[in-house]
Amino acid sequence: MPVKKSPKSKKSTVKSTKKPTKKSTGSVLELKPNTIYQGDCIEIMKSLPKGSVDMIFADPPYNMQLRGDLHRPDNSKVDAVDDHWDQIGSHKDYDGFTREWLSAARDLLSDDGGIWVIGSYHNIFRVGAILQDLGFWILNDVIWRKSNPMPNFRGRRFTNAHETLIWAAKSEKSKYRFNYDAMKTMNDDVQMRSDWTIPICSGAERLKGEDGEKGHTTQKPEALLYRVMMATTQPGDLVLDPFFGTGTTGAVAKKLGRNFIGLEREDSYIKLAKKRIAAAEPIAEDALQGMMPKREEPRVPFGWLIERGLIKPGATLTDPQNRVEAKVAADGSVVTSDGVNQYRGSIHKVGAAVQSAPSCNGWTYWHYQDGKNIFPIDRLRQRVRDEMSARTVIQ
Ligand SMILES: C[S@@+](CC[C@H](N)C(=O)[O-])C[C@H]1O[C@@H](n2cnc3c(N)ncnc32)[C@H](O)[C@@H]1O
Repeated sequence: MPVKKSPKSKKSTVKSTKKPTKKSTGSVLELKPNTIYQGDCIEIMKSLPKGSVDMIFADPPYNMQLRGDLHRPDNSKVDAVDDHWDQIGSHKDYDGFTREWLSAARDLLSDDGGIWVIGSYHNIFRVGAILQDLGFWILNDVIWRKSNPMPNFRGRRFTNAHETLIWAAKSEKSKYRFNYDAMKTMNDDVQMRSDWTIPICSGAERLKGEDGEKGHTTQKPEALLYRVMMATTQPGDLVLDPFFGTGTTGAVAKKLGRNFIGLEREDSYIKLAKKRIAAAEPIAEDALQGMMPKREEPRVPFGWLIERGLIKPGATLTDPQNRVEAKVAADGSVVTSDGVNQYRGSIHKVGAAVQSAPSCNGWTYWHYQDGKNIFPIDRLRQRVRDEMSARTVIQ
């Protein structure tokens, strides 16, 4: 039961509950979108309704197992990740913990849901293997290249300048969401690649604790979550983050009109997250509307172009090189001849036949003349779609 309500229509309040409310039926917890649940994420996930979440973003403990303090050349102490929550134990312990939280997370995902897990070389390979063992279907590993990484102070290894995100669908059969067109548009009309250069979280974005020091050692940059959510969710989706920390996922979800559920054990982080999310400004609903994925665009049959007078019966269409010509009939079929055979049928069938190809996208193969130039007939289909959605998209 994914929550699809527009966040505009529902209050985007943040409730932190010590003990999440129990439903009257059994031990299942009530699912309250835009809520931080405090406690152990495995226990909470096991109690939430199965199949209720569209996407999961998880930034689990890295289990870094640092040995001793790390100092800079000037002897100042490096603010490394030595928090108690990161100390899981041996590899075996870490694998057990990972298997448990990932199983509970998988149960919570809708069948077509996806998961993102971020980690470093300390843990991501173990996480990847367990994801596959549990039946998740890995779609990409994305390299987050830090444009301003921390140097390697001891000079004994390469500068550790990236983290890895694994993006996986719940199963091989999942019809997962990927906003391909939005990603391409965001990237100046070039396909978005799997290496992302984004700075680490710093400056005003970096939250401070009551002592004026870093509020959290591993606060992720909002830009990273922005891209993840823009790529794999739509407004109104429910995103769960089982290791919520300072609530980066919640703040970005609120800005982008998505709903969130945050799970976190520590009081101090929940306090920071609540304040931050309360201050986050949602983007106006009309500004959230982006490119519609091609697959979701309304179907426009070729005949509609003829009915609307965009292509006249008897008009000539050509292939992209202007070598093959076909005439358009009043019923939307096209006819051509290679001197030996005559071909008549749909734009797709005739396009395939003249190329001796198994199939053809007639919308991009056939072109019409406009002034001195020829254009694919897909341009006219887009005009009809724009008229249907009353939106103007510049191609
Ligand atoms: C790597 S940090 C996440 C940071 C977060 N992405 C951010 O941007 O602030 C992991 C967080 O998970 C929390 N955590 C660790 N184990 C947990 C558990 N079993 N249940 C709930 N929270 C847990 C830690 O307290 C920590 O805040």
